[in-house]
Amino acid sequence: MASASRRPTDIVIFGASGDLTRRKILPAIGDLSRDGQIRLLGAGRSAMSQEAFKDLVASATGSQDLAARSGWVQLDYDSPDTYEALKPAVDGDGAPVIYYLATPPATFGSILTGLTHAGLSGRGKDRSIVVEKPLGQDASSARTLNEQLEALFDESQIFRIDHYLAKDTVQNVLAFRFSNSLFEPVWNRTMIESIQITAAEEIDIGRRAGYYDSIGAVRDMVQNHVLQLLALVTMEPPTTFDPSDIRKAKQELLRAVEPLDPATAVRGQYEGYLDAEGVGRDSRRETFAAARLVIENWRWEGVPIFVRTGKALRRQLTEAVIRLRDAPHLRVGGRRQRGIPTLVVIRFQPDEGILLRIGAKRPGSRFEMVPAGMKLEYGRLARQQLPDAYENVLSEVLAGGHTVFPSGKEIERSWEIVDPLLQSWETEGHPELYARGSWGPAAAEDLVTGQGAGRWMTSGDEAGTQ
Ligand code: NDP
Ligand code: BG6
Repeated sequence: MASASRRPTDIVIFGASGDLTRRKILPAIGDLSRDGQIRLLGAGRSAMSQEAFKDLVASATGSQDLAARSGWVQLDYDSPDTYEALKPAVDGDGAPVIYYLATPPATFGSILTGLTHAGLSGRGKDRSIVVEKPLGQDASSARTLNEQLEALFDESQIFRIDHYLAKDTVQNVLAFRFSNSLFEPVWNRTMIESIQITAAEEIDIGRRAGYYDSIGAVRDMVQNHVLQLLALVTMEPPTTFDPSDIRKAKQELLRAVEPLDPATAVRGQYEGYLDAEGVGRDSRRETFAAARLVIENWRWEGVPIFVRTGKALRRQLTEAVIRLRDAPHLRVGGRRQRGIPTLVVIRFQPDEGILLRIGAKRPGSRFEMVPAGMKLEYGRLARQQLPDAYENVLSEVLAGGHTVFPSGKEIERSWEIVDPLLQSWETEGHPELYARGSWGPAAAEDLVTGQGAGRWMTSGDEAGTQ
């Protein structure tokens, strides 16, 4: 990954009063701004004093220096004239400017219009634009936003964030798959029985109802993070590891993923969601989604693939479980033994690593099989604590690299994959309620068992990885 620039740089964060800015963006900027080169401007609708924003910066970063180089500009995203207020700070000394859109996606179009109206955007200028996921609300709005972005900025100036791509363990999937001759030969329909991806969160929506209640789990997680994980786990080897070739390989894989069928998908809502401040009393928004995916290509034809994600689940866990086909023959004492499925578990978080679950003979005089594990503890490879994904994202933006960013085309295709589900759920039925601290609605279990694909497998869970 590229290292941070040491040039003076202005970063303007739209939506800087929000959750993401406080929890992720500011701490990352704090770490990257020790050389004193970053100046920060928060922008948004909130009526915040300069002191209040400086206090926010100081408490989120622990840096009084950065706080002293920070300021707040109040504007209305929908009123282009209000963007003039940014000019004195941004147009001053010709330093590079990074606009970071950390607002809900419905505001992106207005912000781009506002910047253009004030003459603050620009191809060929030293200006970059960073847009948070989800880009758009569906395939059509994503196309419109991409067109708008591409009309105002060169592709090299545009950074479409999916912070999962900036997690070291996610990048490690490429190294794991394509630099070990042990795994790639079995990574196909001949040897793999099924693939499951779980992105579970223990936290609920907290105070994010303003964003979440119009978005839901499919737009928040499946369209972006989950499909990006799937693409890395299942794509063909890229010609080179250059960002453009990796993007091409992911895009090609996503092209082979069939649009989701509502008949093989489950939506859930955790009990108590409707009581959260800001949530509509009769909201049908899903806080859990599970779906069967079909990849129509040579490598994966016929392999059942399941994904699930949700809030207020039993524990935080993001992993891909790849189950290999059972060994063909195991007879002991004249009887056929039940094999122990071989699992390759790519654990993205927490306790990052790769686990191999294999069968072994139980020590002793009888020939009896027991499950056994082999584990790569990824954190042990690092000399220091793994950097936060947002630090990787921002350091890449500062250096102008594109390794950890999906392309506009990947994003549009991902929307095409989830759109049928969104359209159906917008108009039909209700989510199934599930208890907080569970693994989601019962129908999610049935989705897997009903397809004769075993059950959900979750490493380290008493109910899983049997
Ligand atoms: P918030 O709900 O905290 O919103 C951020 C800011 O946007 C708010 O402080 C508010 O600022 C403004 N805002 C909120 N709702 C609206 C609205 N309906 N119309 C106009 N402006 C609004 O969201 P997050 O900070 O959680 O997320 C922001 C973006 O970052 C989203 O696109 C999300 O997908 C993405 N993201 C969030 C992550 C997280 O962990 N929170 C992680 C990864 C991505 P003001 O009122 O001052 O204008
Ligand atoms: C964000 C979603 O993109 O990812 C949040 O908007 C979610 O709802 C978050 O909590 C999860 O990220 P991480 O890195 O904590 O797994």
